[in-house]
Amino acid sequence: MLEAHNVTKIFRGRRSASPVIAVDEVSVQAGPGEFVAIVGESGSGKSTLARMLLDLIPATSGSVLLDGHDITAMNRTDKRGYRRQVQAVPAGPGRVAEPAQARRSRDRRGDPAAWDRDRQRHPRQGGADPRTGGDVAGRPILGSLPARAQRGQRQRVLIARALALDPRIIIADEAVSALDASVKAGVLRVMVDLKDRLGVGFVFITHDLPVVKKVADRVYVMHRGKVVEEGPKDRIFDAPKDPYTRTLLAAAPSLTPTT
Ligand SMILES: Nc1ncnc2c1ncn2[C@@H]1O[C@H](COP(=O)(O)OP(=O)(O)O)[C@@H](O)[C@H]1O
Ligand SMILES: [Mg+2]
Repeated sequence: MLEAHNVTKIFRGRRSASPVIAVDEVSVQAGPGEFVAIVGESGSGKSTLARMLLDLIPATSGSVLLDGHDITAMNRTDKRGYRRQVQAVPAGPGRVAEPAQARRSRDRRGDPAAWDRDRQRHPRQGGADPRTGGDVAGRPILGSLPARAQRGQRQRVLIARALALDPRIIIADEAVSALDASVKAGVLRVMVDLKDRLGVGFVFITHDLPVVKKVADRVYVMHRGKVVEEGPKDRIFDAPKDPYTRTLLAAAPSLTPTT
């Protein structure tokens, strides 16, 4: 069981800048085989909370515990165990730096003349021929995949990499947000399958409420660094109590199935 207990994170600015209370006395829990969603608008403190759960930054106060053991009290061996058991799926495409050559080949897709000009100018550099989807020799390269397949594949690779170490809890911060619907559904299926078959717990951070409605078991709603509401998914969507949750749900794209 992974737990944040009353964690606060204050970023102190330089000289004149005033401190930012990014996370304010937040408590969350995620158990095995549980899909926990953390939702809230941009700037509500979700990523800061994730970074504390991943032991990437220290909490200003409060504690992060795994099976009741406070991470600040762990020795190096315990910490290694913690990092193995609590894994990240990093933020998805859009924030991941792409190799220049993949970017160029994508920009040139569908424009063979531009690809030829590019090749003349940079004969030794990579990039996919838009006609064959391969390199100069016709070998397939990652950059030649359609952009959305490439992104989905990258997310699958990131998930696979996180799973290689047999984690108990996976923390996914906007990991599928930028993916196309079909690719996103595929990645989510993988996650749900891991949850069901292997009992992996997920802390799924997103502003994508339709996804939350589909896959989450429990939901925490964050607003201005605080958890304003938490509960089972159905209760949150069917009978939100907090005014902010209601606003958030009202602003979400169609949450009711159209078919
Ligand atoms: N390293 C940092 N230094 C200063 N302020 C930060 C830092 N990281 C985040 N913040 C601030 O903390 C608040 C919460 O940010 P963040 O956790 O990224 O929110 P979210 O992920 O929900 O969009 C924001 O006001 C943000 O500007
Ligand atoms: Mg964020």
